[in-house]
Amino acid sequence: MARFIINGGKTLSGEVTIDGAKNSALKLMAASILGEGKTKISNVPIIEDVKTMVDMLRMLGAEVGVDQEAKVLYIDPSKVDNPEAPYELVRKMRASILVAGPLLARFGQVRVAIPGGCNIGSRQIDLHLKGFESLGAEYWVEHGYVNCRIHEGRLKGTVIDLAFPSRGATENLMMAAVLAEGQTVINNAALEPEIGDLAGFLNSMGADISGINTPSLTIKGVRSLRGTEYSVIPDSIEAGTYIIAAGLCGSDVLINNVRQKNLETFFHKIKEIGINIETAGPDRVRVSRSHKRYRAANISTLPFPGFPTDLQPIITVLLSIADGVSVVTENVFENRFMYVDELNRMGAGIKIDGHHAVITGVDRLSGAPVRAFDLRAGAAVVLAGLIAEGTTEVSDIFHIQRGYSDFEKKLGRLGAGIIRSD
Ligand code: UD1
Repeated sequence: MARFIINGGKTLSGEVTIDGAKNSALKLMAASILGEGKTKISNVPIIEDVKTMVDMLRMLGAEVGVDQEAKVLYIDPSKVDNPEAPYELVRKMRASILVAGPLLARFGQVRVAIPGGCNIGSRQIDLHLKGFESLGAEYWVEHGYVNCRIHEGRLKGTVIDLAFPSRGATENLMMAAVLAEGQTVINNAALEPEIGDLAGFLNSMGADISGINTPSLTIKGVRSLRGTEYSVIPDSIEAGTYIIAAGLCGSDVLINNVRQKNLETFFHKIKEIGINIETAGPDRVRVSRSHKRYRAANISTLPFPGFPTDLQPIITVLLSIADGVSVVTENVFENRFMYVDELNRMGAGIKIDGHHAVITGVDRLSGAPVRAFDLRAGAAVVLAGLIAEGTTEVSDIFHIQRGYSDFEKKLGRLGAGIIRSD
């Protein structure tokens, strides 16, 4: 099994460029099924999850061309004829269920494997299904699959009040509603920038969505959509990861493709903790290591514009060496502290109490064999390895490769002592 072997204590410097957002690219790929023509998506991160979505689109019947070098996908959905998301792919990547909305809108029926649990909690899909029902579809569960069907005609526009601003539900319902008869309003919609990116993509295909980047999306249904050309926004979570890596062990690191307005709460917190970060041009920041010890801070994850849950494990590494006691509260997922035991094995002083982590800062971490529990927890233990004394071996790195392109190469180019061993 592939592992990362990290020799801690190296200083990072130089320049790194952030890729397109995983959590946008996957949704745009799913939405391309709605078009009657070919779609070209650029600035696509070449990561395992994107490859899984390519497999999914091909399984549905689409033709997909991948230009890895140029980070461009060409999708021709005209031969899509199999409205089913199979368990092998949904199990590998929960975001596969995002093909449900487009398939239901286009074929009037869809069969999707139920994702089940994952390493950060049970992650229901009830809001997706109730939303499809409000749009006039019926659904039933059979043999581990959800079947959805429209009785006759098209989905019908309606008002959907989401009980929680779920990103996946907002996206699935928006993609279903674009081809519905009449107007749909989604209230309490998720506000993450990737939702706005998906709405912009759908509008470029001929959809009529307004209220973008507000909690109330209005979608006027249209009869058909065309293919489009679109470029994915930069990945805020990858940006946050490199900013913290640079803050942990950088002397002077330039990070390109960082949209500060998509990371305001995060920026506010890392400045409070003491990371030196300044604007170095449009979408470019410079991070330099503060020689003072970092300060403890309290952080609560919340849907956008709150502190992103995906950066929670990563900022916990920074707080683990800060001066004083920090409290990190996880409000989005029920079980997102499993990686803490790994950090404690490296010498961190973190106690879990329900959905709070109480972090007593230590002077240093020490290298140890650790596991990547999930994608972001995996990135967190790698960052811990970068500052730990001695060698850290990270196993189960397939989780990390789901969402970070060339993680070890990008860190290595900045001067980190990290290699992949197969
Ligand atoms: C997306 C992101 C993920 C991020 C998360 C929260 C993708 C591919 N993944 O996941 O990286 O961590 O947003 O920012 O974009 N919930 C329900 N019922 C539902 C739907 C969700 O109870 O029908 C709950 C979930 O169990 C979870 C919370 O709502 O506790 C947030 O889920 P959601 O916003 O839907 O996250 P995802 O879209 O799955």
